[in-house]
Amino acid sequence: NGTETAAMIAAHNLLKKFYHHLLIHTKEGQVALDYLLSRGFTREIIDQFEIGYALNSWDAATKFLASKGFSLQLMEKAGLVSKKEEDGSYFDRFRNRIMFPIHNHQGETVAFSGRIVGSGEPKYVNSPETSIFNKRKILYHFHEARLHIRQKQQAVLFEGFADVIAAVRAGIHHAVATMGTALSEEQARTIRRNAESVIICYDGDRAGVDATLRAAEMLAEAGCYVKVATMPEGLDPDDYVRQYGPERFKADVIDASISLTAFKLNYLKKGRNLQDESERLRYIEDAVKEISQLNNAIEVDHYLRQLANEFSISFDVLREQIKSYERTRK
Ligand code: GTP
Ligand code: MN
Ligand code: MN
Ligand code: MN
Ligand code: MN
Repeated sequence: NGTETAAMIAAHNLLKKFYHHLLIHTKEGQVALDYLLSRGFTREIIDQFEIGYALNSWDAATKFLASKGFSLQLMEKAGLVSKKEEDGSYFDRFRNRIMFPIHNHQGETVAFSGRIVGSGEPKYVNSPETSIFNKRKILYHFHEARLHIRQKQQAVLFEGFADVIAAVRAGIHHAVATMGTALSEEQARTIRRNAESVIICYDGDRAGVDATLRAAEMLAEAGCYVKVATMPEGLDPDDYVRQYGPERFKADVIDASISLTAFKLNYLKKGRNLQDESERLRYIEDAVKEISQLNNAIEVDHYLRQLANEFSISFDVLREQIKSYERTRK
């Protein structure tokens, strides 16, 4: 009900400020703060994203919430504390972690994601699904990005929180991320309601490429024009900003994003030696098949011409070839 919802949100809000204070002003938070600074997070960014630190303690947050008058039973429903089976006592859900507050699309704090300080497993612990936190609906940073997204009629979609934060450092304010899960239909529709186009900028590993293709499908289905910003093998956007700087990230990754079709055509080239005649012919055939899936005659013409030029093949021959696939279109 409404009173409970308000109390759950108020608790998140107070705890967020408590975690932030612990990170910035306490000796216990120093290691976490040093870790963040060593990763290129600035004090401004830490303030802007209200990043915090949960003490290495079983009851610091529990005691804090109780002292503010919150019922611990309700705090368990909010996903902030857990209950011990044996004696029914409560303990902190997040311990010794860097805390990223998660806001709903109205800007209310409704969840946390806690990152381990340094390396270890699990890397992130998230709030559970609750009555105020639905992972399938919420996009990280959407409440801040919404106006930028509407103005640009474009969103940039990332895999992780760290990537969104790195993007904002690079002046890319229309950045959002999923909650470590595959993009959902609801999230795709939210993006479409606010923008015509979307740039997918996932990690440059196998999982990232697979997830790109799935997210692209979902977004295209929702009616978005999809572009892809490709990362060098093995880097994610946050790594890239750290390694090459924010200016190059904007210029060489985001502004250099390519159409989904160009991305798929590049992808078909992977692992093929195009100097080899038969492999080259197989690539051209697969590329023509891919192009045949496009619904737009202008785009078909464009990519066929490009392919004809790239491999010095007659455009008319490709045109002829594509007809045999068009009949068997999915
Ligand atoms: P950093 O290592 O801090 O830069 O994080 P990252 O964003 O690069 O993480 P990664 O690429 O491994 O994962 C992307 C997203 O998946 C994260 O932002 C999380 O939302 C989610 N994720 C990663 N690891 C875990 C995990 O151990 N548990 C959960 N629940 N989610 C995770
Ligand atoms: Mn802004
Ligand atoms: Mn990843
Ligand atoms: Mn990553
Ligand atoms: Mn990363």
